[in-house]
Amino acid sequence: MSMPSDIVLDHVAIAVSSLDNAKKIYEDLGLKFSLNIEVVESQKVKTLFAELGKDKSAGHLELLGPIGNDGPIYNFIQKNGEGIHHLAFLVKDITQLSLDLKAKGYRLLYENPVAGAGGKLVNFIHPKSTGGVLIEICQCQKNK
Ligand code: CO
Repeated sequence: MSMPSDIVLDHVAIAVSSLDNAKKIYEDLGLKFSLNIEVVESQKVKTLFAELGKDKSAGHLELLGPIGNDGPIYNFIQKNGEGIHHLAFLVKDITQLSLDLKAKGYRLLYENPVAGAGGKLVNFIHPKSTGGVLIEICQCQKNK
């Protein structure tokens, strides 16, 4: 038995060429997706997500599709093909954790946490620091 912790898996994000095609696969498994596609123009990405479990703490699955022929998701698919893009952990204090990780020598994508999808503060740890996994850390903003 391992010890329980405060850290929750917030989402697993999957890079896909077609949101519609990928959505169907997970719907065949029984997942239910949000009706609205969220567009993050600055990242050239559109996202669709499905809540897992019976309450929000069970996290969600996020599909990431490219907008146009550039941007991080387009480039990821060109390089790696479709597949798991990142894991995201919900943390209590992203600012402190970012500082601690930097002090330990991890390479973060952003100097300070930035606004991400769903009104959360997010930062990413570069896969070169983590054995090949892009890891997002995120925190709910207190006023949301
Ligand atoms: Co994410």
